[in-house]
Amino acid sequence: MVLVSGSGSNLQALMDAAADAAFGAEIVAVGADRDGIEGLARARRADLPAFVVKVTDHEGREAWDAALHARIAAHRPDLVVSAGFMKILGPRVLGAFPVVNTHPALLPAFPGAHAVRDALAYGVRVTGCTVHLVDAGVDTGPVIAQQAVAVRDGDDEASLHERIKTVERRLLVDVVGRMVRDGWSVTGRHVRLGGGRPAASGAP
Ligand code: GAR
Repeated sequence: MVLVSGSGSNLQALMDAAADAAFGAEIVAVGADRDGIEGLARARRADLPAFVVKVTDHEGREAWDAALHARIAAHRPDLVVSAGFMKILGPRVLGAFPVVNTHPALLPAFPGAHAVRDALAYGVRVTGCTVHLVDAGVDTGPVIAQQAVAVRDGDDEASLHERIKTVERRLLVDVVGRMVRDGWSVTGRHVRLGGGRPAASGAP
């Protein structure tokens, strides 16, 4: 199950990978928090079940969290992937499913919604992407994998984000594939991929 808010290029990478049975994962549905995004169009073109649960259609975050939980649960996913989903997930969703997020910076640096802009503004020479388990905080969950991307002279937010996304898509596909095929375990803040535990039993 994949959650999106935007162009869905990470979703596309997961869909492309899942087209090969050896990947070991099937995308059972795509969820979004808004209409009219390319991520939903990609899902519909691939004939994947897709749904939208907007915060503004609910009386507060708690009701939204419950509604999103119900829509996700109907598809009985083993794993939820937040791939450019720009909302903080609530306790109902996080208590029911293991959730993996991809973030366009080397966490704990530059959490939040403007990671690429913030990294450029800070003046770092190296940034990158992080795939991590989601906990109740904002981009604070245990790190699973990271990859560095050099900042080039003359980079702007768009050019740097595009280069990060090229790396990020490969990293996300690799991590999700390994999690569903081989399972994972969490000890404190340390996530270890492998060990043969099925994804369904890896829930926090
Ligand atoms: C990705 O770079 C993802 O890391 C980022 O949004 C982009 C979505 O791209 N997420 C965040 O910034 C979350 N804080 P996509 O819609 O093309 O997959």
